[in-house]
Order: sequence, then structure tokens, then C-alpha cells
Amino acid sequence: MRRLRIGMIGAGSHANRVHYPSLASIEEAEIAAICDMNRERLHKTAEKYGVKSRYVDYREMLEKEELDAVYVIMPPHHLYDIVVDCLRDGFNVFIEKPPGITTNQTRSLAWFAERYGCRTMVGFNRRFIPLMRLVKAMVEEKGRINQCVSAFYKNLYPEEPPYYRGAVDVLTSDVIHAVDTLRWMGGGEVRRVCSSVRSLFTEYPNSFNALVEFDGGVVGFLMSNWAAGSRIHTFEMHSKNASAFVNPDDKAIIYMDNKPEPRVVSTFEAAGGSKEFYKYYGFYDENRHFIECILKDEEPETCFSDAVKTMELVDQIYRNSIT
Ligand SMILES: NC(=O)c1ccc[n+]([C@@H]2O[C@H](COP(=O)([O-])OP(=O)(O)OC[C@H]3O[C@@H](n4cnc5c(N)ncnc54)[C@H](O)[C@@H]3O)[C@@H](O)[C@H]2O)c1
Repeated sequence: MRRLRIGMIGAGSHANRVHYPSLASIEEAEIAAICDMNRERLHKTAEKYGVKSRYVDYREMLEKEELDAVYVIMPPHHLYDIVVDCLRDGFNVFIEKPPGITTNQTRSLAWFAERYGCRTMVGFNRRFIPLMRLVKAMVEEKGRINQCVSAFYKNLYPEEPPYYRGAVDVLTSDVIHAVDTLRWMGGGEVRRVCSSVRSLFTEYPNSFNALVEFDGGVVGFLMSNWAAGSRIHTFEMHSKNASAFVNPDDKAIIYMDNKPEPRVVSTFEAAGGSKEFYKYYGFYDENRHFIECILKDEEPETCFSDAVKTMELVDQIYRNSIT
């Protein structure tokens, strides 16, 4: 069996919560080297995963290590130059969402990936949540999804603009998960968008609602509000004679053929019984997908050029606001 040698740039909180444990449990992957300019995080993470090759300068790591892929996991406004350096050196690259801070950055990254023949992936993990994939397949067995909903609510509206002290807006940084999942459920190119962008109790936009028409007449609804009661992140998928209501933190309720009793599937059951967050919330499966695509020389589902379309939909939501 071939094991891919992975270089990690970034040993911060999200990477430690989901990517290191995911990669450590994928047999075909080996965390071969770690780079973080924060020495404490570097050594703590490297000790935990038994990694000897440690760097504070990513260029040195790219030069010295034989790597099959590089993960660049850090705040989006720090990504761009590092990812371009990796791509120009011919490395396959995995990054977190958002894929840069503007559509132009994402488009340029996709250009470099194409030009230098690299496989790339953005961590839009909601698409890889085992419960979401299972339910989508069940609903699609009845026919094409004709209507879908992505809802994302939080209670997070500080006076100082988030995220990263206002470096990236709420929609691009976080609501983008719901936008990308809507595209995935809608299953086609975006035709038209009508939206409402509001600032609730803040001076920056924090509520984004949109009606999106996809090819084939599929209608998608985005509902989000960062001044809501709590974090609630749910989805709906409807096809002919099937309707699914999904809360990936908990369970899915699926109604079929006008029967009053739904089928109920828990998120842990869909993840093979695992209660590990990185497994039931899609991180393990997205990492697996990336590794498998490199081994098979295939384009990952959420490659940079696909991520451009999600960023374009973000732009359309801003552009087409009626409020
Ligand atoms: N998919 C999700 O649900 C989800 C959830 C949380 C965060 N994220 C994403 O994860 C990413 C990382 O967020 P985080 O909060 O873990 O960040 P973080 O700040 O905790 O970690 C980033 C790490 O990168 C290191 N770093 C920064 N620049 C570097 C450089 N030039 N060279 C070497 N090391 C460098 C920092 O020292 C830090 O340790 C963000 O893009 C965020 O949007 C995704």
C-alpha cells in the first residue's frame, strides 16, 4: 500500500481538532512534517503525533521534504501567498474554508492549480457529513432534488466586526458553509439569485437570506442570522415523494410516499456509530476523499475551481439584495 507523505502548515486549533486526528486515522496517509511559526504549538502537535520533522519556515519544509500533499490550515487572510508557493512547487494542496478572502483570490488559486497540475481541495465539510450523504442518496432515489434549504443561525454579534478582527465578513467566512451545501444539494449551476442582506444590532452585515434558482428549476433557500437564539444549523431536501429534515448535530427525519411515520437516522448511526466530532461532522470523510483522489489522480469534489462557484454565489447574494 502506498502511503502519502503529508506536510502540515499550521498547528492551530481547528487543525488540531479535526485534521490531525483524521489524517492520523487514515492508513494511506502519513503526517511526515509539520510547520508552525508558533514553536509551542509546533512542538506540542508534533509530539502528540510523533512527527520528527518540524519547521517554523514553510519554505524550508517545502524545499527539504519529499511530500505528496500539503495542508495549509490558517486564517484565510494569511493563506494566499503560502498556497501559491505550494502550487508553484507542484504540491497538491488542501485548505480550509473560505478559499481566500475574495473570489479573485480563489480564481487565481484555481489558475495556479491548473497551471502546475496540482490536485486541490477546500474543506467544505458539510458535504461530507455521513448523515448528509446518506440522506441525500435516500431522497435522490425518489428523484432529483427539486427544493432544498440551508439554515445557519448563531448568537454571535459582537460590536467589533468578526471574523479575525473584521478581516473577513460573516458570509464569506462562516455562512459560506451553508452556501456551499446549498449548491451541493441544488445540484446544478446557479441561474438567478434574489437576496436580503441585513445588519441586525451591528454595523456589519450578519443576516443573509436568499432564494436561489439552479439549473433545471431547482429552488434553494439560504436562511442565516447571527443574532438568533443559538447555533442551529439544519438542512432540508425534497424530491418527488420524499422530504428530509436534517440536523447533522443530531438526526435526520425522512418522510416518504405520504406515510405519516418518518424514518429517523441519528448522525452517529450514519457515521458507523462514532461519537467523535471529526468523524460524524464530515472531517474524516473529507480528508479521506482528498487522500483517495490523490491516489487515484482524480479531482476532489470541492477543488479550487469548484470553490470559485461557491465564492461567486456569495458575491451574487451581496449583489442582489433587496434590502
Ligand atoms: N470547517 C469548519 O467547520 C471550520 C471550523 C473552524 C475553523 N475553520 C477554518 O480553519 C482555519 C484555521 O482556523 P484556526 O482558528 O484553527 O486558526 P489558528 O489561528 O488557531 O491556527 C493557525 C495556525 O497557523 C499558524 N501560522 C499562521 N501563519 C503561518 C505561517 N506563515 N507559517 C507557519 N505557521 C503559520 C499560526 O501560528 C497558528 O498556529 C480557518 O480558515 C478557519 O476558517 C473551519
